[in-house]
Amino acid sequence: MESIRNIVVLTGAGISAESGIDTFRDAGGLWEQHRVEDVATPEGFARDPQLVQRFYDARREAVQQVEPNPAHDALALLDRQWEGELLIVTQNVDDLHERAGASRVLHMHGELLSALCSACEARHKWSEPLLGQPACPGCGEQALRPDVVWFGEMPYEMDRIYAALRRADLFVSIGTSGAVYPAAGFVRDAREMGARTLELNLERSEGSYWFEESRQGRASKLVPEWVAEMLG
Ligand code: OAD
Repeated sequence: MESIRNIVVLTGAGISAESGIDTFRDAGGLWEQHRVEDVATPEGFARDPQLVQRFYDARREAVQQVEPNPAHDALALLDRQWEGELLIVTQNVDDLHERAGASRVLHMHGELLSALCSACEARHKWSEPLLGQPACPGCGEQALRPDVVWFGEMPYEMDRIYAALRRADLFVSIGTSGAVYPAAGFVRDAREMGARTLELNLERSEGSYWFEESRQGRASKLVPEWVAEMLG
């Protein structure tokens, strides 16, 4: 691994599964229990805001009951010790990377513990329910929504992500099915721009084909092993 200096890590729901957070597309996952168009689109929110607020309120509460697992801990160790560039791009809306101690984290699909004001567009740290329509601490309007990116909306900080992918020597994808773009396309982008590519996932994903190497197993085992390799 001597030639590697700049790393981009992409994480998905699979890295938090062993902490007790449901994934989306596995058997029993969130998208089997709820219709995406009802709870994860702007149109669904316009149709039934209370249903959507209740869905995210429950997830916000649940995320505060769980703990980071060894996979989050290992990435936090890499973050502390890796002297080159590192960007942990997560599709997850939980805060388990941060709670494990990682700081070079970018939440491309937003955060459960944040509220976005539809009136003034400010984002506020938020750990309480939004169902009762609390006022925005910035502008006072009762216009707060979950600060999560819904289908049809633009993920956060794409410019920063592509800049990091351009510089990356290694792109590693952890616990994601490769079903949702633009994240699912990062492996191809990274390869085209010269990075080596590695997938760590419970099973081969929809995008496995694009990776030079794909390792199958639980994130709590594969990620600490890979981080140990990187840190020598
Ligand atoms: P998915 O539920 O689509 O995929 C989770 C992946 O993690 C699957 O490939 C599983 O095999 C794998 N997995 C499960 N348990 C694992 C474990 N213990 N260790 C390693 N891998 C494991 O979740 P995402 O790919 O994150 O977006 O989903 C991407 C996006 O789709 C989400 O961010 C969300 C969703 O719709 C929005 O809501 C915008």
